[in-house]
Amino acid sequence: MKFGHFDDQNREYVITTPKTPYPWINYLGSESFFGLVSHQAGGYCFFRDAKLRRLTRYRYNNVPTDSGGRYFYISEGKDYWSPSYMPVKRELESFECRHGLGYSKITGKRGGLKAELLFFVPLGHTAEVHQVTLTNESSAKKSFKLFSFAEWCLWNAQDDSANFQRNFSTGEVEIDGSTLYHKTEYRERRDHYALYHVNAPIAGFDTDRETFFGLYNGFGEPDVVAAGESKNSVASGWSPIASHCLVVELAPGETKTFVFTLGYVEVPRDQKWEKPGVINKQPAKKLIEAFSTPAQVTAALAKLREHWNGLLGLYALSSKDEKLNRMVNIWNPYQCMVTFNMSRSASYFESGIGRGMGFRDSNQDLLGFVHLVPERARERIIDIASTQFADGSAYHQYQPLTKRGNNDIGSGFNDDPLWLILGVAGYIKETGDWGILDEQVPFDNDENNKATLLEHCKRSFDHVLNNLGPHGLPLIGRADWNDCLNLNCFSETPDESYQTTGNRVGRTAESVFIAGMFVHIGPEYAALCQKKGQADEAKRALGEVKKMEETVLRDGWDGEWFLRAYDFFGKKVGSRECPPGDAQILIEPQGFCVMGGIGVETGQAKQALDAVKERLDTRYGIVLNNPPYAEYHVELGEISSYPPGYKENAGIFCHNNPWIMIAETVIGRGDRAFEYYKKIAPAYLEEISEIHRTEPYVYSQMIAGKDAVNHGEAKNSWLTGTAAWNFVAASQYLLGVRPEFEGLSVKPCIGTEIPEFTVTRKCRGATYNIKVKNVRGNGDVKLTVDGKAISGNLVPYAAAGAVVNVECEA
Ligand code: BGC
Repeated sequence: MKFGHFDDQNREYVITTPKTPYPWINYLGSESFFGLVSHQAGGYCFFRDAKLRRLTRYRYNNVPTDSGGRYFYISEGKDYWSPSYMPVKRELESFECRHGLGYSKITGKRGGLKAELLFFVPLGHTAEVHQVTLTNESSAKKSFKLFSFAEWCLWNAQDDSANFQRNFSTGEVEIDGSTLYHKTEYRERRDHYALYHVNAPIAGFDTDRETFFGLYNGFGEPDVVAAGESKNSVASGWSPIASHCLVVELAPGETKTFVFTLGYVEVPRDQKWEKPGVINKQPAKKLIEAFSTPAQVTAALAKLREHWNGLLGLYALSSKDEKLNRMVNIWNPYQCMVTFNMSRSASYFESGIGRGMGFRDSNQDLLGFVHLVPERARERIIDIASTQFADGSAYHQYQPLTKRGNNDIGSGFNDDPLWLILGVAGYIKETGDWGILDEQVPFDNDENNKATLLEHCKRSFDHVLNNLGPHGLPLIGRADWNDCLNLNCFSETPDESYQTTGNRVGRTAESVFIAGMFVHIGPEYAALCQKKGQADEAKRALGEVKKMEETVLRDGWDGEWFLRAYDFFGKKVGSRECPPGDAQILIEPQGFCVMGGIGVETGQAKQALDAVKERLDTRYGIVLNNPPYAEYHVELGEISSYPPGYKENAGIFCHNNPWIMIAETVIGRGDRAFEYYKKIAPAYLEEISEIHRTEPYVYSQMIAGKDAVNHGEAKNSWLTGTAAWNFVAASQYLLGVRPEFEGLSVKPCIGTEIPEFTVTRKCRGATYNIKVKNVRGNGDVKLTVDGKAISGNLVPYAAAGAVVNVECEA
């Protein structure tokens, strides 16, 4: 069942009912000011850091779900309603929400009055613009009141949700005409405040929540709206809000537009006050002036569209499969950008107060957005590498505001270091910026202890070699990619973290997955060294890779597939020998070992992928393991804590499915790779939205596996490495256009279901028009570049500004 449709022309998803199977959200902002907005106008906004600079309040896990947001209420006679349906839930004559790239437009109609709410964050500004357009579509004159509503968060979202003995006494506001200021804590250490403004005279306002709603009322029944009159309340302590009241009259057919600005400003410490107790409003006024007319809003929205046109033009696919087109051209890159901006901080599943930026996560995300914003990718790499320790290990997470490693979680996730090499290599392939390797980058942010970025990569590489276990396989540490495979944890006490509790500091538990990564990523490190004139080091690296490959085939091969690990006691994890209540095969090493080329020549790669098909594939995607762990295993950790079919215990983890897609292309099975792609790509799941439940335009982290009660139900949409990896799989391996160090590789491997397609790829300033005829679909290609046949699959990089025409028979 569908709850809307794609509008590819406008790059929007159009939701046509408020009653979607779950709140379907969008993101506003791509610089420093961000907002989350659901199709019912739920959500919140923040400046840079969702934990430390939260502007508006949102209560997670609430009843009903998704209550709280930027709400508009229309009060007409005895009737009052919201154009976004929530929170009043009065039936509407029509409803539509268009989620576009960086903006959302919600339109509701009742009693012949149409109200369109447009939300976006204009480029270059630290504010959300809410434009409300009201049209009288009835035949009678209308006079009504429009109320706005936003609830301030007292900046630190964690403190805001817990420290009531203090917070109920700190709230402070100022009112200046049509601008309502939130200045809690400004009197002491904060040099910033927030404001909510409307570009018209107001009939009244409220800033005290209790006065606005009435103590025992919810969002859907504010006293003020029901009475049709603001009470001009001035908050003092308790919970400050911002609500304007506008009196509106509309002749039949008439339209009026109001522009609201919800913004954040910082003031230099020595200029904080206009006079004692009165905040300096100069910076706020500048912001307000930028959006005082609808024409300014239209111009800012056009600029935002332009911005996205530019970004999405960098990789453009034209094929007969409109679902594939919309994933590759619009929604997957869009999700990659959002993931870049948010990491794993703020979504409807991530509370914005939990994690910082992941070392592993950020490096992987980079693979999906590096072609969109290479200069920001460069900055991100330096930030990430600056948190690395001198021995090559890494803080698992760092805080975006301070860019410092997060001590609570610390280090010891032994796959982390290798991801840095992958990120750096991906960046150089895209840009040709070899100079980044010479950048002096600190270890653990210590300016007195710096080395080149290439040296950081060496430390990453060597960290694996310095931490090998009894079989010569890499030690897993706290966990590897699978944060929930905690082989040294042995947690028996509720409430302790599986991942950071390590009461066995043995050097025995080994990961075949990290070995596969090492074999896949090691040659990239060797290529970096080679280019930098370190031929001996490159040779050494390739020698170690070769050795690891042999080790995997000797001690990491289970007979029909790759083993997952050896546990603390040296017992096999993910083996045919495991009992039926335990996982016998896990997905991760099958993907990464084959991506690294292990067993491709000798047949194990094909065998492993056949085993994936047989044991892990389902109608909704590939599960992480099979069978699921039936019981909790203290020696395995969190993986066995989940009920069968959920999360890392045999859920369909959409993050690692693309590894299998890529692995299938490594052995030339394009048809199977595409089959897997379609199973989890959201555009292909639109028709089963009632089962899938999360947004049909973005990936979710997890879909419940075949052993779960609700097989096919997705959770944790938006902020997941799934976005980057699926984009990499689709654009670089299935469609096969991939930047390499010395040229653009063109090697489609997508089967024959799509007989032909065209990709326009901009890379290093040149444009490549690539026309593909798919006759084999197995990665075996014949290329013609500007009319001349070439051997191999590498199109040499052209000068910036050049246009290169490539014909490909695949
Ligand atoms: C984390 C990833 C991890 C994955 C699998 C996600 O929640 O962000 O870093 O690889 O779970 O455990």
